[in-house]
Amino acid sequence: MTVRVGILGATGAVGQRLVQLLAPHPEFEIATLAASEASAGKSYREAAKWRIDAPIPDDVAETTVVEGTPEEFPEDVPLVFSSMPSGIAERVEPAFAEAGYVVSSNSSNARLDDDVPLVVPEVNADHLGLLEVQRDDRGWDGALVKNPNCSTIAMVGPLAALSPYGLERVRVATLQAVSGAGYSGVTSMEILDNVLPHIGGEEEKMETETKKLLGVFDGAEVQHHRVDVSASCNRVPTIDGHLENVWADLSDPLAPDEAREVFAEGPSIDLPSAPDRLLQAHEDEDRPQPRLDRTAGDGMVIPVGPPQETTEGLQFDCLVHNTLRGAAGASVLNGELLVDRDLV
Ligand SMILES: NC(=O)c1ccc[n+]([C@@H]2O[C@H](COP(=O)([O-])OP(=O)(O)OC[C@H]3O[C@@H](n4cnc5c(N)ncnc54)[C@H](OP(=O)(O)O)[C@@H]3O)[C@@H](O)[C@H]2O)c1
Repeated sequence: MTVRVGILGATGAVGQRLVQLLAPHPEFEIATLAASEASAGKSYREAAKWRIDAPIPDDVAETTVVEGTPEEFPEDVPLVFSSMPSGIAERVEPAFAEAGYVVSSNSSNARLDDDVPLVVPEVNADHLGLLEVQRDDRGWDGALVKNPNCSTIAMVGPLAALSPYGLERVRVATLQAVSGAGYSGVTSMEILDNVLPHIGGEEEKMETETKKLLGVFDGAEVQHHRVDVSASCNRVPTIDGHLENVWADLSDPLAPDEAREVFAEGPSIDLPSAPDRLLQAHEDEDRPQPRLDRTAGDGMVIPVGPPQETTEGLQFDCLVHNTLRGAAGASVLNGELLVDRDLV
């Protein structure tokens, strides 16, 4: 069965990736493309200024973009992917959920709301149980499901694999690509020959979302993990691919070789866009690198470097393709999980 889907924010950096992933998708058919008032009424080709290094899908290019309101959407589109600025999304997404649409969203609003599942399918698919609580609380026929921030997704897979060994403290420094700020986010004068040692709001997202993702759903709420997370986020002049240096302190010591095995056997799930395994364990100390490794598993794998021993635990590096596994691919995977669990 094919599910007709819509995209909110279809013209943006993440929206274009959603179009790229959804156009050939085996389960989904793009029915509606929405963006701001400025794009509404234009063809997608004209509105989007396609910037992906693959051709714009033919059957999408001449589609007329509509404004992102439930009134503009056909009723036979049960599932909507959303990648709008969070200030807009916090108003628009609940309106869609109230009108009966299931929304799989990238935007940062509502990620920490008690009744909103924040999901990486390989890590915490059971948190979708929160949707029953959400529908009871809010009286919605639809639903709102979130994927985490792009930089959180990179480290949460390896941390989930280490969690049985008593995860106590995490320190992380990021080197994040410019596409993570959207097309108009960072000017060339700011970022060429430079590094920006702060990304507004990003540290807090990594510190809070990680605890929710690694938490336990008890049937009524998610008990956040007690791990202490501290992040420092940097913008660097790569185009795609966030690299992270992570220090994880464990209460049960794990040798580097054992940790590498734990990563290699890391979490997995059987969904159309899911790789065989979420993590790819590298042996070389100079990997992963953004240019060489960001497209591993069609950009859906998290490559992880060889772990090193520290006084309290382990240090390792990991990488995420920020607009694929870190954004559009994460939303599509959540959409597939929602269909798989009969929630669409
Ligand atoms: N880039 C990443 O790597 C990344 C990763 C994870 C999460 N995210 C999150 O995903 C969201 C989108 O990010 P992005 O990088 O794709 O941003 P972007 O390139 O600036 O695109 C924003 C999209 O939202 C639309 N939009 C703007 N104002 C609107 C309005 N008033 N009503 C309806 N649609 C509106 C834009 O349409 P127009 O073209 O018509 O203006 C465009 O389609 C953000 O919340 C961001 O934090 C991004």
